[in-house]
Amino acid sequence: MSKIINYLKKYPLIYLVLRIIFRFFVKLARGVDYLRLKYIFGIGQVGRNVRFDKGFRVFHGAKNINVGNNVYLTDVLLNAGDNAGSIKIEDFVFFSHKVMVIARGHDYQKLDKERQEAITEAPILIKRGAWIGSGVTILKGVTIGQNAVIAAGSLVTKNVDDNTIVAGVPARLIKSI
Ligand SMILES: CC(C)(COP(=O)(O)OP(=O)(O)OC[C@H]1O[C@@H](n2cnc3c(N)ncnc32)[C@H](O)[C@@H]1OP(=O)(O)O)[C@@H](O)C(=O)NCCC(=O)NCCS
Repeated sequence: MSKIINYLKKYPLIYLVLRIIFRFFVKLARGVDYLRLKYIFGIGQVGRNVRFDKGFRVFHGAKNINVGNNVYLTDVLLNAGDNAGSIKIEDFVFFSHKVMVIARGHDYQKLDKERQEAITEAPILIKRGAWIGSGVTILKGVTIGQNAVIAAGSLVTKNVDDNTIVAGVPARLIKSI
């Protein structure tokens, strides 16, 4: 690739034109991600420069999802819930692979059909700059602190403080940043 770029640089005008075209398509591709999130997945609010990969899913409550700027959603599953549930993802948050964010559950005091239908929901907030490692599950009502890191494979059942790293099932503090 660098050989091609060096070769093209010998022809500055062609290089410049190709660069402009390339940038145009990069921007278009990112714009397509925005349009797909907003109008195909139906997400309530989507910021600038938000990207996602094949496998990204919204299970419930797309309109209750709010995504900030410069967020990388990869193939995350978002289940925001339709009533009291919501998912807010602030700027510069990024997800590794196979993450689930689930703002929903069922009332286990009920049985059978009633249990299936007795939905419990609570908001999830993922603050600015948090990194959510591969294979993480985040449950309802949890706030992930600013710049926090959730280690691969963790199950987050409680709030995570700013600038900390948590790991395990359930996730516990392993260090501060
Ligand atoms: C969170 C993470 C960044 C921590 O890295 P680190 O600072 O090098 O951590 P350490 O290796 O010093 O581990 C500190 C302790 O936490 C434990 N730990 C680290 N990651 C863990 C995990 N995912 N689950 C459980 N425990 C973990 C270590 O075993 C160690 O325990 P000990 O003190 O009892 O020996 C890293 O473990 C991680 O999970 N990265 C995510 C990787 C990923 O998802 N990549 C996707 C590509 S973007």
